[in-house]
Amino acid sequence: MRIAVLGTGEVGRRLASKLVSVGHEVTLGSRSADHTGAKEWAAEHHSAHGTFAAAAAGAELVVNATGGLVSLAALEAAGAENLDGKVLVDVSNPLDFSQGVPPTVAQPEGASLAEQIQRAFPGARVVKTLNTMTNTVMVEPSRVPGDHVVFVCGDDAEAKEVVGGLLKSFGWPDERILDLGDLTGARATELVLPLWLRLFGTFGTMDFNFAVPRA
Ligand SMILES: NC(=O)c1ccc[n+]([C@@H]2O[C@H](COP(=O)([O-])OP(=O)(O)OC[C@H]3O[C@@H](n4cnc5c(N)ncnc54)[C@H](OP(=O)(O)O)[C@@H]3O)[C@@H](O)[C@H]2O)c1
Repeated sequence: MRIAVLGTGEVGRRLASKLVSVGHEVTLGSRSADHTGAKEWAAEHHSAHGTFAAAAAGAELVVNATGGLVSLAALEAAGAENLDGKVLVDVSNPLDFSQGVPPTVAQPEGASLAEQIQRAFPGARVVKTLNTMTNTVMVEPSRVPGDHVVFVCGDDAEAKEVVGGLLKSFGWPDERILDLGDLTGARATELVLPLWLRLFGTFGTMDFNFAVPRA
């Protein structure tokens, strides 16, 4: 697939690299076409980089890996017309550090960021996933032992199928991809972040994840 990864931070670069390694054609998107980090990544991975809009325009599937509080602005820059009809994988977390640490999760009127994105870009097929773990675990689940899971939610069943395929190619077995239903499920997965941050403080490592044993 032709995939645009919007976001040049650790997460965007990690996902983009994995997607290249499993055979996709990836363009890394940033605010400027002249982004040094994006250029370096593209040279190293024999891939492309460009503005959010250029990356999204050429893609069949788009990944939002921008800061949660700026994701709507980044997607606005990508352009609604470049997201229309496309699967939009949202891995962001709306963490608000304005009052210091620990951050709060910004969910105005109780709506998740994923739902806000879906509302702002009704033509996109938003799927929320991977936001409940650190980026190294996203692309290499075997870093953590046990039957830990990745949550998926979204309003479009076919889009979730496509994302499930990508997750499988990252090493997530079928039975550990937990479909939480429609996109309101993102309210819960975004609100896991305070617990995740607390566990990070307790463990002193990011190499952990959530498991959901059930009878
Ligand atoms: N760290 C993790 O392992 C982890 C795990 C799960 C989820 N997440 C979530 O993944 C997302 C990415 O995290 P990250 O640490 O890799 O990157 P980040 O620093 O949160 O975001 C970097 C991206 O945001 C863009 N950006 C910054 N300000 C902007 C603005 N005003 N308007 C539009 N775009 C702007 C940057 O654009 P330029 O490219 O132009 O600089 C860059 O592409 C976040 O939402 C984070 O909460 C992180």
